[in-house]
Amino acid sequence: MTNINKWESNIIFILAMIGSAVGLGNIWRYPYVLYSNGGGAFYIPYLVAIFALAIPFIILEYGVGYNYQSSFTKAIIKLKPKFEFYGWILPVVVFIMTIYYSTIIGWDGIYLFLSFFKGWGADPNTFLNVNLLQTTHSLSGVFNFIPFIAIFIIIGWFIIWFISHKNLDEGLGKVCKIFVPLLFVIMIFIVIFSLTLPGANIGLAELFNPDWSLLWHFDIWMAAFGQIFFSLSLGMGAGFTYASYTNDDIDLISSGLYVVIANSAFENFTALGVFSILGYMSLQSGTPVSEIVSQGTTLIFVAYPQVFNILGSIGLILGPLFFFTVYVAGITSMLSSFEVLSISLQNKFALSRRKATLILCLIGCLASMVYATSAGEYILRISDLFVNNIVIIFSVFVECVLFAWVFKAERLISFFNSRSKTFKIGKWWLTEVKYIIPLLLIVIWFGGLYELITMKTTESAIVLIVLALILVIFSLIFTLLPEKSKDWFKTEERVK
Ligand code: PFF
Repeated sequence: MTNINKWESNIIFILAMIGSAVGLGNIWRYPYVLYSNGGGAFYIPYLVAIFALAIPFIILEYGVGYNYQSSFTKAIIKLKPKFEFYGWILPVVVFIMTIYYSTIIGWDGIYLFLSFFKGWGADPNTFLNVNLLQTTHSLSGVFNFIPFIAIFIIIGWFIIWFISHKNLDEGLGKVCKIFVPLLFVIMIFIVIFSLTLPGANIGLAELFNPDWSLLWHFDIWMAAFGQIFFSLSLGMGAGFTYASYTNDDIDLISSGLYVVIANSAFENFTALGVFSILGYMSLQSGTPVSEIVSQGTTLIFVAYPQVFNILGSIGLILGPLFFFTVYVAGITSMLSSFEVLSISLQNKFALSRRKATLILCLIGCLASMVYATSAGEYILRISDLFVNNIVIIFSVFVECVLFAWVFKAERLISFFNSRSKTFKIGKWWLTEVKYIIPLLLIVIWFGGLYELITMKTTESAIVLIVLALILVIFSLIFTLLPEKSKDWFKTEERVK
């Protein structure tokens, strides 16, 4: 069964890819990453990551997806039948990510609900950690189930099911067409408002105050590359899958460029808003910005509610708008990561979109219940490290080598160039995808591994081992189960 899914138009593909890229990574993660990695100085590794890695790689990923018009796994089989196991590793690990991603969306859903009446009370920090997450910072809380969190995680999965089970045009396509532009409109409104707050300049000065000495630290380079990967959904099969749904006349070079530009514009714009608000808060409370930000990645669930508290009734408008934006951004990203495993299973086991979506949503929802416990936040942090630091980077390395060398990236050049309305690619691009990117990936991979080893505790090791086992066992099961589709080994290529 070849994949008959197609986007209604090329613009919808670009919107869907922007929807995939712009997500929690841009709003929840980026402002903090930028601030804690040298402020203005961070832009150097950030730009290097965009030009040396993101743009060349995104073009490659789109190109191969376009060529095979199939799921990632099916394409890998066509490329190297012996690599089927690897062809499942990536979709399964992306699904593991989808599961914890759904949890953060669930948390955000809670805050969206609470924002209408500032239900987090006068002390948002205690509210988040003690009342809501009841964090134990260890595995010991795994049997303390928190139904309130569970309900909101289930709502997220329900939305994913509701959109994904429909055909592309009526589901994913329609949602991206409406909600991705809306995301930008609301964010622009929030940021402009934030910039007008007294004290905004204090926050911005703090954010951009460059610490050039950090440029010599490996960490900030790792942070930039990690951010770009996560934020652009690079190498995780999302771009591959979405590009496989494109029409024949698509200009992939320009599309990739637009996605990169939109994603970076969004996250940097968001950072302006976040830090203006923090500057305002610093002015009101007399607490230095650096102290407010030390709350790290809980920034949006602690500092933001604090600001909405100070803002009085405006907070009742801004709060819901903000958490709604985060929610939409999260859902449009989760839709794309969900699609990766879903379409692979549909391709191999001849499942309908409806059936595959239902089964996977039920499994994902059930699995995410582990995050609705007091150990949830702890397990989430380790899951994130496992996925982003170890597995993804390594599997993207394999992907890059397979696509650049085995598939032979040079096959794509004239096809790409014949359609490109922006820039053309040539030798430099080949050098990038064949040599520079694989090399960079290996360096980043060792860096990430080091970070993980240095945080070793017996408990985190248990979580890591369980995750690794889940990954290997599921990938093995999908590899060994006999295919139901007659076309599993028949994949047509579009680029001749
Ligand atoms: N790009 C998303 C974000 O910035 O939040 C995360 C993501 C979504 C990664 C989808 C991978 C993916 F397939």
